[in-house]
Amino acid sequence: MPTFTVFKGNKDGKIVKAQTTKPDLQDDQVLIKITASGLCGTDEHYKSADIVLGHEGAGVVEDLGPNVRFLKKGDRVGWGYQHDSCGHCEWCLTGKEHYCPEREFYGEANLDQGSLASHTVWKESFLFKLPHNMSDEEAAPLMCGGATVFTALHSFGIKSTDRVGIMGVGGLGHLAIQFAARMGCDVVVFSGSDSKKEEAKQLGAKEFVAMKGKKELDIGRKLDALIVTTSANPDWSVMLPILAPTSTIFPLTVSFGDFSIPHLPFIQSGITIQGTVVAARAVHQHMLDFAALHGIKPVIMKFPMTEQGITEAMNTLRDGKMRYRGVLIPQI
Ligand SMILES: NC(=O)c1ccc[n+]([C@@H]2O[C@H](COP(=O)([O-])OP(=O)(O)OC[C@H]3O[C@@H](n4cnc5c(N)ncnc54)[C@H](OP(=O)(O)O)[C@@H]3O)[C@@H](O)[C@H]2O)c1
Ligand SMILES: [Zn+2]
Ligand SMILES: [Zn+2]
Repeated sequence: MPTFTVFKGNKDGKIVKAQTTKPDLQDDQVLIKITASGLCGTDEHYKSADIVLGHEGAGVVEDLGPNVRFLKKGDRVGWGYQHDSCGHCEWCLTGKEHYCPEREFYGEANLDQGSLASHTVWKESFLFKLPHNMSDEEAAPLMCGGATVFTALHSFGIKSTDRVGIMGVGGLGHLAIQFAARMGCDVVVFSGSDSKKEEAKQLGAKEFVAMKGKKELDIGRKLDALIVTTSANPDWSVMLPILAPTSTIFPLTVSFGDFSIPHLPFIQSGITIQGTVVAARAVHQHMLDFAALHGIKPVIMKFPMTEQGITEAMNTLRDGKMRYRGVLIPQI
């Protein structure tokens, strides 16, 4: 029975070290020794919950259940937000298992383990082999952040000739800029202030707009798509006038309130608001291959995976000082 160290949230928002014991490996379960974990904006929402945190994992296969077919000990793997799905519903059968009604997601299932831990037990079918030219610490932030923005850019008809807005230069946003630029899109970045301008341009932005104090925008050619990765929803009345007719908004922000947008401008321009969450496994695999081929890498800040190190990383993220993804490294 594998026993390992985990780091949990708690009702006071304090990081707590604990132990998890799992039954002996069954079926296609794999025991992974964790080598790196990204810290996603969504973890912020769970730091007051009594669950093991982290859903951007990378590690090495340490042991195999009896029905594991493709992985072997020593393989480097990553995993993300989704743990399981039913495998037989319409959405599972059409490669949309992240919308399976019986899906298991971070924060809802398997609450005794996550990527902020020494080890984890995961189903082989929800693990991804890491590309050879990508380190574990570079791969980890791709497992949620990378997969989420790649899905928006890849799965809904965005073309290389499109002008694509990326709003928010954080963990998701700085990866979205790189993916969209390598896909050939004309990338316009919208950020709170000017402070990230040079880095956004180095990552692939053609234009950069500092939003602070702006009630009206003029960017010339309007956007065919807007990918919103800010931690709070923007003022849509400022953004709608720079959206082209029949364009698409991807509001990726996790928010627990209602979604509200000026109604008439939205229908009169035939705008689509496209909900999307993380990635189907086939798209996740395309994302990893694309990132490896084009040298897309997260810009990371490393922290020790200890109670103190995770607290410091969480505070850095909350204070808007992360450049651009925190990665926790186990201390063994
Ligand atoms: N849909 C999904 O599947 C999915 C998956 C993962 C994460 N998410 C959600 O996506 C959002 C971004 O995650 P992340 O990991 O990229 O977070 P992050 O690293 O904190 O980035 C968020 C960015 O939002 C901007 N921002 C910060 N505070 C803000 C505020 N009060 N109002 C408006 N903008 C603010 C900042 O960019 P600037 O400085 O450039 O303005 C910041 O870098 C979160 O809400 C997260 O929960 C959704
Ligand atoms: Zn996430
Ligand atoms: Zn299903």
